Amino acid sequence: MSEIRIRPIRHLRGEITLPGDKSISHRAIILASLARGKTLVSGISRGEDVLNTARVFQSMGIEIKGVGSDSLTIPGKGLRGLSQPKDIIDCGNSGTTMRLLSGILAAQDFSSTITGDESLRKRPMDRVVEPLEKMGAKIEGRFAPLKIEGKRLKAISYRTSISSAQVKSAILLAGLYASGKTEVTEPARSRDHTERMLKYLEADIEVRDLTSNIMGGKELAAKPINIPGDISSASFFMVGAILLPGSHIKLSGVGLNPTRTGVIDILKRMGAKIEIENLREENNEPLGDIIVKGSNLRGITISGEIIPRVIDELPILALAATKAEGKTVIKDARELRVKETDRIRALVTNLSIMGARVEEKEDGLVIQGPTELRGGRLDSFADHRMAIALIIGGLIAQGETVVSGTDCIKTSFPEFEETLDRLKVVE
Ligand code: S3P
Repeated sequence: MSEIRIRPIRHLRGEITLPGDKSISHRAIILASLARGKTLVSGISRGEDVLNTARVFQSMGIEIKGVGSDSLTIPGKGLRGLSQPKDIIDCGNSGTTMRLLSGILAAQDFSSTITGDESLRKRPMDRVVEPLEKMGAKIEGRFAPLKIEGKRLKAISYRTSISSAQVKSAILLAGLYASGKTEVTEPARSRDHTERMLKYLEADIEVRDLTSNIMGGKELAAKPINIPGDISSASFFMVGAILLPGSHIKLSGVGLNPTRTGVIDILKRMGAKIEIENLREENNEPLGDIIVKGSNLRGITISGEIIPRVIDELPILALAATKAEGKTVIKDARELRVKETDRIRALVTNLSIMGARVEEKEDGLVIQGPTELRGGRLDSFADHRMAIALIIGGLIAQGETVVSGTDCIKTSFPEFEETLDRLKVVE
């Protein structure tokens, strides 16, 4: 198994541009494949998850060009243009691919089977199967593999019990095909990239408070899509810079969609020096430059409505909390247990090895800081965000840190090591 050895560094300095946002990249491939006409997507993520989405649409007859580079040409064939794949569809490690795709496959004129890797086959799919069945879908399985028999769908009005953009998006995508107006309401706002891109591509979609609704049957327009930098990937460097005194970095062209910027709000509340410059908008998504300096942090409580806005950044925030003065409480984050690994358990295991004072809760963690961290043998549990958070931990810990199971980094951020090398100041 691959491993990475890390030694402490002095600080992070310089300016970088991050690879394209993973969530927006998936949606660009999906919606451009369903649009009528050719779409040029630039700045797309080259992570394995996004490559899997591209391969899936290739297997359904969409001749996507440029897969593996950061620019794709996607000749969309319209809502009814997909063809039956010859093989079982493999989504790899990607929950977003599997859940969003379920909504589309449920409405096709063909049957298909979708599966994924060992981790994805353990993740709950009932959360998408249940609403899709209410729309008239026929799906066998509550965990992957799912066997989906395409049906004519009807619109529903649905209230999700969890805030999940994957669930919401699966329903809205099925709603593109359904007769009538499909409506989804969630308990707290999750990322709204699907709604924004659908609107940009001229779908009949409206968003009000916690409800999104879409009218079925309208074809999507093909328009150029430029993907902003990934704020989830940016958050690792933000925390690294904050925790290493004397750091000063600029992260250019990062996506600043308000449903994703919980990490900035929380780090600022903890006392971090973060500034935003050059705020602008491209294809209905806000982006800007983030400037971060070394800062002293204080512990806070992270709970409630902000959780869906920061769900993927909680591992790196937990690391930040070990260096904050006082107690940090993360709660209402039970969803962390059904990510690529059980992230609550994985954090408690690894941060304890590093000497942090961390307590496991059913729906989160309590971290008492500040503590000196020491290097040790750590395990990613095959989770890309865990692996990268632990590598940042190694930069601020005493002695050598070894993180095993680092292959998974390519899932979201294959350029991570070279990007870190550009900011690292060792002496
Ligand atoms: C994602 C939604 C979130 C997030 C995941 C990407 C998306 O998952 O954790 O990394 O692109 O829609 P949930 O919908 O399960 O919360």
